[in-house]
Amino acid sequence: MKSLGLVNGNLVDLNENVVPMEDRGHQFGDGVYEFVKVYNGKCFALQPHLERLYRSLRAIRIPATYTFEEFVEFHELLIEKSGITEGGVYLQITRGSAPRVHEFPKLVVPCLTMSIRPAGVVNTHLWEEGVKVITIPDERWLRCDIKSLNLLGNILGKQQAKEAGCYEGIMVRDEHITEGTSSNFFVVKDDVLWTYPATHLILKGITRTIVLEKLAKELDITVLEKPFTVNFMKGASEAFLSGTSTEIMPITTIDGIRVGDGTVGAITRSIQAAYARLIDEECGRR
Ligand code: PDD
Repeated sequence: MKSLGLVNGNLVDLNENVVPMEDRGHQFGDGVYEFVKVYNGKCFALQPHLERLYRSLRAIRIPATYTFEEFVEFHELLIEKSGITEGGVYLQITRGSAPRVHEFPKLVVPCLTMSIRPAGVVNTHLWEEGVKVITIPDERWLRCDIKSLNLLGNILGKQQAKEAGCYEGIMVRDEHITEGTSSNFFVVKDDVLWTYPATHLILKGITRTIVLEKLAKELDITVLEKPFTVNFMKGASEAFLSGTSTEIMPITTIDGIRVGDGTVGAITRSIQAAYARLIDEECGRR
């Protein structure tokens, strides 16, 4: 089992220097990415991830030079050649390499790089016990719906959260909570599940969509995609994060204040369990 890379379809060692100096991803963050989890040697929810990849590419006008089937093959190749059964595949596409100018260079060819790594040490107790988060200002640009390589606001926010001893920073724009630095954010109030609507101010997470359109329906939970304030959030009985790596992560304190009674809530637990069942169904885990 070993981590592996794939550059424009060719297998490479992860430590090989393969990306040109003037790649626009490197110089401008001019590109998009996806991250897919691998369970039991199979990609989970690959189709919606690839659909979002095409949307992101269209949004920043990078031509899609590979078909859906080719992307699927690349994921399968990385899983097969690496021998990794539990892990994640990172994929990015940049506009390509050309002498540095801000406008799109003529005759530039997009560059696809992918890598597979085993899942890190999983802190399963966090899913059991829940995590602490802090609120931070949302200082990102106004197209957070594009899964672009420009993540400065996100990484600075995450670092701030880590330094405060927290798992995640949840971002506040105009007094409303948008999302986490690498996850979507939900609260439960009066048995209704609230989350920020899928506008240009958040990333429409694949896990978020699964929660809203599949799990909540199955569990007969009412959902509301509507902005809510920090004050509203403080009166919530439950809160959790969703994301490809984060999965369904219960939140027990926000800015040091307990959510509900400070334990993991029943609705969060039921969504967690339904998400685990879905992974089992799709990937035959365990
Ligand atoms: N992050 N919001 C932001 C800002 C994110 O970066 C992510 C995912 C999500 C959740 O999206 P999804 O459910 O599709 O994973 C929400 C990925 C995993 C990352 O940056 O590595």
